[in-house]
Amino acid sequence: MTRLEDKVIVVSGGASGIGAACARLFAAEGARVTVADIDADGGAAVAGELGDSGRFAALDVADEDQWVEVLDAVTSDFGRLDGLVNAAGVAAKDDRLATVSTADWDRIMRINLDGTFLGCKHAVRAMKGRGGGSIINLASVYGRVGDGDSVAYCTSKGGVRLLTMSAARHCAEAGYGIRCNAVSPGFIDTPMVAGYVADPEVRRAIEKRHPLDRLGRAEEIAAMALYLMTDESAFVTGSDFVIDGGYSAV
Ligand code: NAI
Repeated sequence: MTRLEDKVIVVSGGASGIGAACARLFAAEGARVTVADIDADGGAAVAGELGDSGRFAALDVADEDQWVEVLDAVTSDFGRLDGLVNAAGVAAKDDRLATVSTADWDRIMRINLDGTFLGCKHAVRAMKGRGGGSIINLASVYGRVGDGDSVAYCTSKGGVRLLTMSAARHCAEAGYGIRCNAVSPGFIDTPMVAGYVADPEVRRAIEKRHPLDRLGRAEEIAAMALYLMTDESAFVTGSDFVIDGGYSAV
């Protein structure tokens, strides 16, 4: 299995959930993967699973200097950067318009939206002139529909969708050979939602919001990321791929 033979890929948020599933699948397909995360223990553990194909880099996606450091190290060590998945993301316990704190609003914007912007900006810098590449941003079904419990989260993910489209057009118009796409999952069974769905009744209610009547699996998102990372998707840019078990099929 070598659909990504020797590609050099960075996965932010690679220590857990969807990012970790992407890192594992990419490495299994022949890529050299940098697991970049603020969680050093989790990130090192996932990178360790990948053997010679994996390594860990400490990264707070909200910190521009750290992006520069991580991506410069990758291009210096491997000679290029072929792919970036922006999977780092957070949600807040109380994210209702009436009660969400300004601190939580700012944290969600800094990590989900600014972090993705900074990743795109510096990946483009690293990829252009070196053969191009593929950038994949984790948006959400909550970037396409509103939710009364998730005002900051929905706003950040709506921003990620438009950031993706604008980045894609910029890169195409500039002739960089860099494609940029978003993936918008429904509820996926990862540590991000584990606390929320710990109550079986809440879990059942969430499952029912998806016509396929279950939560998604991280591997089902990684499968789309794999397609977007390969040259099979050479004519695909500026798109938003919804993988939500029918959640938004209204
Ligand atoms: P997760 O909580 O399992 O993993 C998120 C990862 O991001 C963790 O490893 C965490 O340490 C890392 N992270 C958090 N803040 C960071 C920072 N400042 N710098 C670097 N890394 C940081 O979450 P999951 O479910 O894997 O989510 C991945 C992405 O997919 C997120 O952007 C999330 O918003 C998005 N998403 C998730 C859905 C779900 O239902 N699980 C649904 C739709 C989108």
